[in-house]
Amino acid sequence: MASNNEATGSEIPDRTVDAAISKDYDLSHPINSTSGLRQGLTSYGDAHFSLFLRKVFIKALGYSDSALSSPIIGIINTYSSFNPCHSNVPQLIESVKRGVLASGGLPVDFPTISIHESFSSPTSMYLRNLMSMDTEEMIKAQPVDAVIMIGGCDKTVPAQLMGGISANKPILPLITGPMMPGSVKGERVGACTDCRSNWAKYRAGAIDVEDIMDVNEELAPTGGTCGVMGTASTMACITAGLGLLELRGGATAAAVSSARLRVAEQAGRNAIALLKLGNNKPQELLTRESFLNAIIVLQAIGGSTNAVVHLMAIINRHPKVAGTIDLKTFDEIGRKTPLLVDLKPSGDNYMTDFHNAGGMLALLHTLRPLLHLNATTYCGKTLGELLDTTPFKSFEYSRQIVRSLDNPLHPSSSLVVLYGNICPNGAVMKASASKNRTLLHHRGTVCVFENSADMAKRIDDPDLDVTENSILVLKSIGPVGNPGMPEAGLIPIPQKLGRQGVLDMLRISDGRMSGTAGGTIILHISPESADLDSVFGVVENGDRIVCDVENRKLSLEVEDSVLAERIAERKRRAHSVSSHGEQGTVKEPWLERSNRRGYRGLYEREVNQSHLGCDFGFLTAEGPEPSK
Ligand code: FES
Repeated sequence: MASNNEATGSEIPDRTVDAAISKDYDLSHPINSTSGLRQGLTSYGDAHFSLFLRKVFIKALGYSDSALSSPIIGIINTYSSFNPCHSNVPQLIESVKRGVLASGGLPVDFPTISIHESFSSPTSMYLRNLMSMDTEEMIKAQPVDAVIMIGGCDKTVPAQLMGGISANKPILPLITGPMMPGSVKGERVGACTDCRSNWAKYRAGAIDVEDIMDVNEELAPTGGTCGVMGTASTMACITAGLGLLELRGGATAAAVSSARLRVAEQAGRNAIALLKLGNNKPQELLTRESFLNAIIVLQAIGGSTNAVVHLMAIINRHPKVAGTIDLKTFDEIGRKTPLLVDLKPSGDNYMTDFHNAGGMLALLHTLRPLLHLNATTYCGKTLGELLDTTPFKSFEYSRQIVRSLDNPLHPSSSLVVLYGNICPNGAVMKASASKNRTLLHHRGTVCVFENSADMAKRIDDPDLDVTENSILVLKSIGPVGNPGMPEAGLIPIPQKLGRQGVLDMLRISDGRMSGTAGGTIILHISPESADLDSVFGVVENGDRIVCDVENRKLSLEVEDSVLAERIAERKRRAHSVSSHGEQGTVKEPWLERSNRRGYRGLYEREVNQSHLGCDFGFLTAEGPEPSK
């Protein structure tokens, strides 16, 4: 008679009963492990049963007791068919797994939210904190000893760093990498600086519909993140500056390159090595010096203004660093840090050029005199030791892309922070991306748009009362005023001025701007105009504003007493509309947020202002405000 095994065709594997494994079933032996499969058991009131059940289910995937005894390396899978910036995630996961297995670990991938800029309504920023919560809670909930977080598109890396620091298990970011540049009529193009410049040419009538369709085909010719120094590339470089990436290629290897796959395989090995280090949790490994290095990198690459918001959110997740760095720190570091990397939008080149020029290895060696070399890195070495053991020999091409300290692209202060009566908590400007530097010291009459809809309606009106010396002001695109703080701060040049050849104007808003964009643009006014106490909220057409970048001033030239009257009147109207309704009048979002349901309600009630990072107050290291 056939045995059961013959009947089913299955084999009986050789299996020795390991003493450590059999202990899992020993009811007299308490289960209190904080590592591997035995950590963080599901609550059933009986730990042995919880472990027994966990093993039952994971064995359904074919794992053996022996494999399950290895250190478990989680791999966060952010693949989505709506996210071309993460199109290579499946290949990266395979490569990471190879590295983990070769080093004696057990790789287990799991999904979290994936966010792409163009497929997130209202904005990707609206969802960043949700992704950070997903990341934090899934790292905490699942039995992982370390986690490789695969991210790349603008908001994904910040969300993962925020969540990873809060979860405080060993983490290693893995960047998806930049896309390759495309080519239109022999000219290199790349998302998304060239998206904007070509769209501006099309609006101004300089190119026709066929031209713009050709450009549309070539701006993103491969998967991967935007190929200029936009927010995604900036966050990748900053992550290397924090000491969390391999210096050769970790930030810059192209998404579609074999180098990127090798970076991923090495990340698998590095995760196992990280487990053997003391102080391997992000709240121990990352110190204030790590973040100061990240800010030095941000200034030296002429990075995205968005990165200021993201870095503040990341910093404020870290219990020992929160409160020790603010926007003034960014400005102070900027004054001492030259812009060295010649990439769009501040310069002329693409991320692949930066990689070929030596990437972050070349940059960090160049920046060495300015860096805090005692900061610890992912491999346990200090940054100074890591640079000593990974030398870089500069060559001519390299020096064109990564300039030397004595031949910078811009002497200092690529990103500046301005203060004044309309931005008492600060405003941010990428001074290095100004196309008309006379605007860095400018006094002008303002043309106010109350919100994006108002702007869309009037910006191209031939009768718009505006000259090239006017200052364009756009309100209600802050964190609460337009949930998700859209990247609408690059207010278009009014068509009638564009057709006269005006390429740049001073533009001010409480919103954000794509890291790939350029111009003389002041962003992140804090507090935002939706705040009923905000001075920015009561700027009126015809007021005058003075911008003095050298002295970091941005002032509305209106008497304090007049501003106080305007604020009082706005509040009176807001409360009256909110309680009784007034025909044709829009209710103020600042008052309406307490009535909303779902994630939008959570977002509007909890999001803090841009100078703090637009995080939810209750997620910061400090936790919720006592009144909430
Ligand atoms: Fe993903 Fe630009 S849209 S990096």
